[in-house]
Amino acid sequence: MNKIVLPPEPANPVNWPEGFTRVPYWVFQNQSVYAEEQRRIFQGPNWHYLALEVELTEPGDFLTTHIGDTPVIVTRDTDNEIYAFENRCAHRGALICLENRGKHRKDFSCVYHAWNYDPQGNLTGVAFKDGIKGKGGMPDSFKMEQHGPRKLRIAIIHGLIFGSFSEDVPSIEEYLGEEIMNRIERVLGGRTPVVLGRFTQVLPNNWKLYMENVKDSYHASILHLFFTTFELNRLSMKGGIMVDESGGHHVSYSAVDREADKDVDYAKQQLRSESEYKLADPSLLESFDEYHDGCTLQILSVFPTFVLQQIQNAIAVRQIVPRAVDRTDLNWTYLGFTDDTPEQRLTRIKQGNLVGPAGYISMEDGCVGGFVQRGIAGASDDHAVLEMGGADAKSSESRVTEASVRGLWKAYRANMGI
Ligand code: FES
Ligand SMILES: [Fe+2]
Repeated sequence: MNKIVLPPEPANPVNWPEGFTRVPYWVFQNQSVYAEEQRRIFQGPNWHYLALEVELTEPGDFLTTHIGDTPVIVTRDTDNEIYAFENRCAHRGALICLENRGKHRKDFSCVYHAWNYDPQGNLTGVAFKDGIKGKGGMPDSFKMEQHGPRKLRIAIIHGLIFGSFSEDVPSIEEYLGEEIMNRIERVLGGRTPVVLGRFTQVLPNNWKLYMENVKDSYHASILHLFFTTFELNRLSMKGGIMVDESGGHHVSYSAVDREADKDVDYAKQQLRSESEYKLADPSLLESFDEYHDGCTLQILSVFPTFVLQQIQNAIAVRQIVPRAVDRTDLNWTYLGFTDDTPEQRLTRIKQGNLVGPAGYISMEDGCVGGFVQRGIAGASDDHAVLEMGGADAKSSESRVTEASVRGLWKAYRANMGI
């Protein structure tokens, strides 16, 4: 008889060089590392973005999402509270809910054998539990209250719903810290968002390569020619990065500064963006002063997989869902607010072309992770070099740094115990 072959042990941590300036490539390639991440990070003591509160306004509203590999149902019940539970039937494991979202749902019935659940994830019915005509059915020892999908803890912050499988995760306020909380409040606080659109980008790379990209303020004005050519984001502009104590959460921010164009640093680098290109329709770049603090770009990430974006007036949340070692779903939700004027709403939608389905920016971020995934094939024992801006993972007034990328690895290694 053939023996069962067990997957190899996670890569030996001694292969990880000291500090945060080297990242071994096996971390993006190894199947057992991926499995361990599911257990330690996604099932572990972290908060994971699930949905926006405005997507579940009425009792009976529901949607389905993921935390890592795990499918999850999020609901609003008649007590007006938000609940979330694993989208996995307690009988034989089928998905309980097959739809992306819906309304007026009083219960969920598994299509396979019709086990039934209330909107809080309690098992409330088992088809043919008592058999038929006194024959068959479940034994007396079977108790419905002892079975059911795992339930999540829920935290809501400025309309963002987070969930966790862990009883050990600290409160969301403590998890995020004051600076990150303030930066979320700056974008979303005191306002009611309106969903302007959603789309999913399928990335041909490991989920951590996308998180590195989000935290990498160094690449933004080099890879993204559109940003620099049209002066939306240059490293010579005023701005900086903020990295929290854990390293896992970050903010990068900048102010549009047309004077920065006059500095010679960019010309010296001979980047591809030094061109005479002009937009046929410059209204694409028009914006309104929304925050009155001069900050025209704020990218915020929460470990492990949440991003809140403000690029001019294009506001979006991004949820990163790992699907395989080398495949990631990136779910975008674009936001306006209930008090937008029609002109403001139009401006937001136009700006969605900058970082949206038309993809001047997101297309490039979607490609470059794949370039890395392909480039590192056959080099699992080699490593990336993250020395831009030094070796620490601390806040900085320069964005010519990889400090927040090093922060990702600081938090990652703490979570993974390596
Ligand atoms: S798997 Fe759901 S009822 Fe059987
Ligand atoms: Fe980018």
